[in-house]
Amino acid sequence: MPATLPIGTVVDSGDIAELNAQRFNRHTFWCGQSGSGKTYALGVVLEQILAHTSLPVVILDPNADFVRLGEVRPEAAGGSTAAALEGRDIRVLRPGDRDDSLRVRFSALPFPIKAALLRLDPLDDRAEYNALLHLQERYPINDERSIVERLQESGDPVHHALAERVENLALDDWGLWAGERAAATEIIDTRPDATVLDLGGFRYAEEPLVVALSVLDDLWTRREQRRPVLIVIDEAHNLCSPDLDSPLGRAVREQIIRIAAEGRKYGLWLLLSTQRPSKVHPGIISQCDNLALMKMSSPIDLHELASIFGFVPESLIEQSPLFTQGMALFAGGFIGAPTIVQMGDRVTFEGGSDVGVPLR
Ligand SMILES: Nc1ncnc2c1ncn2[C@@H]1O[C@H](COP(=O)(O)OP(=O)(O)OP(=O)(O)O)[C@@H](O)[C@H]1O
Ligand SMILES: [Mg+2]
Repeated sequence: MPATLPIGTVVDSGDIAELNAQRFNRHTFWCGQSGSGKTYALGVVLEQILAHTSLPVVILDPNADFVRLGEVRPEAAGGSTAAALEGRDIRVLRPGDRDDSLRVRFSALPFPIKAALLRLDPLDDRAEYNALLHLQERYPINDERSIVERLQESGDPVHHALAERVENLALDDWGLWAGERAAATEIIDTRPDATVLDLGGFRYAEEPLVVALSVLDDLWTRREQRRPVLIVIDEAHNLCSPDLDSPLGRAVREQIIRIAAEGRKYGLWLLLSTQRPSKVHPGIISQCDNLALMKMSSPIDLHELASIFGFVPESLIEQSPLFTQGMALFAGGFIGAPTIVQMGDRVTFEGGSDVGVPLR
C-alpha cells in the first residue's frame, strides 16, 4: 500500500487531501506569489515526509524559515505526527561560530570554484593558479587557516602572493570554512532525517552560494551510491534564476540544472519553491513532474505555467488568482488527480513568520 501524506482538506469535498509519498521520487515545482503561503505549506508537507517516510531531506533555507522544524508546537503535541517527529534526527546548521555551525570545506570544493573564489585565471595568473593546483600535495592538512599562515611563512614568492590574494579578497574572514570542524557535506553524508541549512545571516553575499554549491556538488559527486535524498530549495530563484551571472551563481545554477536533468535515477530529487515560474531556469522547471500552485495573480505567469505543465487542466490553473492563503492546486504523480487543497496546520514552529505593522 502506498504511503499517503495527509496535508489538508480537499476544497470541493472536505475530504482529507493526501499526497503519494512514493512520488517524491520525481522533481517538484512549487509556485505562488509572496504571502500565498508557500513556505508554510512546504513545512506541512515536510513534516509529513519526516513523519511517514525515511527519505532524508536537505533544506536550503534562505530566510531561516525552517530552523524550528524539530520543535513541536504545544497545540499539536500528542498527535501522531508530533509523536513521530519527536524521534527524528533533525539537524539545523546556521551561520556562526559554534561547533555545530554551518561550514564548508574549502579543500573539497571543485577546483574551478576554488579558482573562481580566488579570481584566478589559468593563463593570466599562471603561477598562482598552478600553486593552487598543487596546494593539497604541498599542505595536505585540512585546515584552511593554517594553510594561509603557512603560505605566508613560505619563502616561495608565489605562495606568498597566493596568501596575499586570500587576504585581500577577505576569504580568510569568511565564517564558513570548516577547518577541523565538520562541514555540512560531511553531516549530510551521514543522512540525518532532515538537515536544515540556514543560508541567511552570512556576512558575505557569496557565502550562501558556496554552501549551496558545496552541498549540491557533493551529492552529485556521490550519485553512484544511489542513496535517495530530497533536496528542498525555498526561494529557488536565489540559486537557479536565469539571471544569475556571477561565476559562482552560474556554477550553482548549472549544478541544479544537471541534477534536474539527470539526478532522478540516482535518487537526487528536487523540490523547488519560488514566486514566479520565470525566476527559475526553464531547463529546471521542464524536468518537474509534480506541481503545487498557490495564489498567483499574474496572467502571464499562469499562462507560462499552463504551457509547461500541459497535463494540468487550464480551468484549474485559472482559479489560482482567487485562492486564499493556504490554498494550493496539486497536480502530477504525487496526487491522484489535480486537486485544490486547503493546507492543514503546521505541527512545528515556523521560523521567520510575517512581521506585523506596528500600531500606535
Ligand atoms: N495555511 C496557513 N495557515 C496559517 N497561516 C499561514 C498559512 N499559510 C501562510 N500563513 C502565514 O502567512 C504568512 C505568509 O506565508 P508564507 O511565508 O508561507 O508565504 P510565502 O508564499 O512563502 O511568501 P514569500 O514568497 O514572500 O516567501 C506567514 O506569516 C504564515 O505564517
Ligand atoms: Mg516563503
